[in-house]
Amino acid sequence: MRLKEKVALITGGGSGIGAAVARRFAEEGAFVAIGDVNPRGGEQVADEIKRRGGRSIFCQVDVRKRDEVNRMIDQVVQEFGRLDILINNAGVTRDNLSARMSEEEWDFVVDVNLKGTFLCSQAAFRPMRKQRYGKIVNTASVVVRGNMGQVNYSSSKAGIIGLTRTLALEYARANINVNCIAPGFIDTPMSAAMPEKTKELALDRIPIKRMGTPEEVANLHLFLASDEANYITGQVIFIDGGASIGI
Ligand SMILES: NC(=O)c1ccc[n+]([C@@H]2O[C@H](COP(=O)([O-])OP(=O)(O)OC[C@H]3O[C@@H](n4cnc5c(N)ncnc54)[C@H](O)[C@@H]3O)[C@@H](O)[C@H]2O)c1
Repeated sequence: MRLKEKVALITGGGSGIGAAVARRFAEEGAFVAIGDVNPRGGEQVADEIKRRGGRSIFCQVDVRKRDEVNRMIDQVVQEFGRLDILINNAGVTRDNLSARMSEEEWDFVVDVNLKGTFLCSQAAFRPMRKQRYGKIVNTASVVVRGNMGQVNYSSSKAGIIGLTRTLALEYARANINVNCIAPGFIDTPMSAAMPEKTKELALDRIPIKRMGTPEEVANLHLFLASDEANYITGQVIFIDGGASIGI
């Protein structure tokens, strides 16, 4: 088992990629805390892990709110005694062309994706520094290269890359690795909400000619969260079927 008795917290773990990460980590022996704003999905995944003999808790959290984030970290440490792995996966979209984008659409996406990642990483630092051990994996996207109608989302995800590199520098002395994954077009409820025409265009640009699965993304999380990645920090790894290469 690659994460035996490691304590992992996965934000947005109640759906899509986060749920696949929670299941995969539990299979590898981790104790899994799921932080999600949506209790239905989060509780379901935690219950499923427990039914299979694993240890799991659900923490309801809005990652935009510092007091809720702090409470979630306290809950995890109280339940499992430590926090080894933080997967900053919670994310949202509110697409619009820049000319039409409202301030609310901008703030909502930047607050959940970028500020949420910051607040969770800052709160997780406390127990991780004490232990002198931690792995943080953030979530950017292939659209950091730019994408029509996603100025809020692509800006938030590009910000996460700067955040990852800076935290990697600041946290290295505490033996905490901070890395980032950048998924392409992955088959989840988030991508299912895209218009059919946009999906066709996205598929057309992928050399491997299919969407990725949440389980494939979870395998990358597993590697970066494990001790196999002890000498990797501050990196961004694209998992996109080749969408970010070539012209
Ligand atoms: N699906 C894709 O094609 C794709 C591509 C690139 C990047 N991503 C990124 O991967 C991550 C997971 O995406 P997904 O496709 O699984 O999405 P999803 O919509 O299936 O899951 C996102 C989860 O985040 C939770 N969440 C939303 N706002 C929250 C908040 N304020 N506080 C706590 N939890 C919150 C939701 O309740 C949900 O459970 C996101 O960061 C997303 O931007 C996805």
